[in-house]
This record gives sequence, structure tokens and C-alpha cells, in this order.
Amino acid sequence: MFRKKNSIQIKTPEQLTVMRAAGLVVARTLSEVAEAVRPGVTTRALNEVAAASISRQGAKPSFLGYHGYPAVICTSVNSEVVHGIPSDRLLVEGDLVSIDCGAIVDGWHGDAAISVPVGVASAEVLELSRVTEQSLWEGMSAARVGAHLSDIGHAVESVIRSAGPFGIVEEYVGHGIGTSMHMHPPVPNYGRRGEGPVLRAGMALAIEPMATLGEPEVGVLADDWTVITTDGRWAAHWEHTVAITEDGPWVLTALDDVWL
Ligand code: MF3
Ligand code: CO
Repeated sequence: MFRKKNSIQIKTPEQLTVMRAAGLVVARTLSEVAEAVRPGVTTRALNEVAAASISRQGAKPSFLGYHGYPAVICTSVNSEVVHGIPSDRLLVEGDLVSIDCGAIVDGWHGDAAISVPVGVASAEVLELSRVTEQSLWEGMSAARVGAHLSDIGHAVESVIRSAGPFGIVEEYVGHGIGTSMHMHPPVPNYGRRGEGPVLRAGMALAIEPMATLGEPEVGVLADDWTVITTDGRWAAHWEHTVAITEDGPWVLTALDDVWL
């Protein structure tokens, strides 16, 4: 089969139903982990909550062992943007922790992330997180049959740029998702309207904006995973897996059934 590598996987309605099951596992896991976030908890304890939740739901974690990744979730605190590894680090009042989770049901993947304030966070940090989440929802809303892929990034970027002087991380992007976690195409969080492939029913994408309070530049720590802002300013990260359907975008990793 030619053009496989650069083609976008199309799912049948039945396959999307299984992806919804995987997405629901992720949604429930993230909601349990969010409940456990408080001052004095370690990010490792959050990882244990996630591991127990995924296995109780009869699913498999997708991150554990992925390119050697050592945990079930990513926990990225404050100036950590993504891919933070759970550790003995204690969360303290005012922190912002991004929790990223993936699960597999019958070979189909779901992937989502939330940013959670620890106790009371500053107004600036809450605004960063709110705007980043809003950009995710506008991005998902652009994921419609007949739209272009770049319409998603354009929508994400427009929300963040119009909200204030935030940075948009460019080195890490969303992705196609289905029988693997990371599939074609990449989904940038910026762009012009009307470019790239036309979206069709049966495609599924993980959209995951990362925004910062300062500059958009990032680097990777010596653990080879943790992505941090170069200027030390804090970041927020939100992600959902969304299916493109004739009835509109279906948010596969939401707790409730949401069509946009
Ligand atoms: N949601 C993350 C992403 O798409 C997945 C974490 S990568 C892993 O980048 F290695 F931790 F699994
Ligand atoms: Co992802």
C-alpha cells in the first residue's frame, strides 16, 4: 500500500466508538488525578492514582515504556511545559501542574491533558491556563469535515494571541491518533487558514496547545524528557482527542459526550 506513511488514518464509526471508550478511560483517570492534587502531594503519588485508575477500568496505559518513558502520566510543574516525569517532588500551594495521560482499549488510543492549580494560584497563572484551555476548544471546534488542517492551529493561535502577550510553544505539536498514540499528521498550535490536508469524517486528532507567560522558547532537561521554558516563566498545557464526524467534532476524551 503506497502513501501509507503520509496518509491520515480513517476510522469507521465502530472504531471511533472504541476510541471513545479509550478516551473515557483517560477522562475518568484525569478527573481522579485532579481530585488528588493538593499541597504536599508528590507527583509520583499522582502517577499511582492514574495507574490504579487505568487498570481498574480494564485499560492499558500508553505512555509507560513509550520510547522508554518510565511512568503512566506526565506531570509538568510551573516552568515545565510537557513530558515532566513523576518524582518525589512535592506540589506546593500556588503551583500549576499539567497532567497528561494516555490509555489503550482494544488497540485504540486516547490522549488528553489538563492543567490544575495547586490550592490557590495567582490570577496571572489562572488566566494563562484558562486561555490555553479556551484555545483548545476553539481548535477542536475548527476540526470539521471540509475544513483544512491548518484551520485548527489558526483557531488555537487566534485565541491565545488575542488574549494577551503569551508565548505559543512551537517545537511540540498535536498529532493524529488511532491505532498508535502519535500518527500522521502533526497538528501545530499556530498557522494560517486554508492550508494542509482537508479534514474528513473518521479522522481523529490530539490537539494540545502549550502556552507560556513569557517567551515561547523551550529546552529539554538532562533527563531527556522534561521540556522547560528557557526563560523560566510558567506554562500551561491542555489536550483532547477529537474525532471528525459528519455531525461535527466529537470530543473523545471529555467526561460527557460532547459534539461541537
Ligand atoms: N500527550 C503526550 C504527547 O502527545 C504524550 C506523552 S509522550 C510519552 O506528546 F512518552 F510520555 F508518552
Ligand atoms: Co498528545
